[in-house]
Amino acid sequence: MNRKEFLSILGISAGGIAVASCLSSCKKTETSAVDFTLDLTSSANAALNTNGGFLITKGVIVARTSAGAYIAVAAACTHEGTNVQYQAANNRFHCASHGANFSNSGTVQSGPTNKALQQFTTELSGTNLHVFS
Ligand code: FES
Repeated sequence: MNRKEFLSILGISAGGIAVASCLSSCKKTETSAVDFTLDLTSSANAALNTNGGFLITKGVIVARTSAGAYIAVAAACTHEGTNVQYQAANNRFHCASHGANFSNSGTVQSGPTNKALQQFTTELSGTNLHVFS
C-alpha cells in the first residue's frame, strides 16, 4: 500500500492535510502565551534603562515610554510580520515596512492592517521586569 492509498482509506486528501496544518499553525499566532523576566542590570537589557529605549526578545517588543513606564506588545506587525520599532517621541509602535502605527497598548492607529498587536503585562520588581500574558 502506498501513501496515496493509505490516505484514501482514511478519507484524507493532501489538500485536507494542508488546510488542517495551516489552521492549527494560524491559530497559534492569534494569541501567544508569554512569560519571561528581564534583568535590568544585564547589559543585554540596557536599552530599557533609558526613557524611550526598547528591545525585542522572544517575539515581544518591550519599551520604556518617555514617561518611564514599561510596555510590551507582540513584535511582529499584524500586516506581514515585520518587527515593529518603538517611537517614544510619537508615543507609538511603528512598522517601517508599510507604515502601520500602533498605540502603546497595541491598538491600530493607521493601517494597512486593522488588527491590533497583542499586549502583554509588565511588572517591575526591583531590577527585574516580568513580562507576561
Ligand atoms: S508589515 Fe507592517 S505595515 Fe506591512
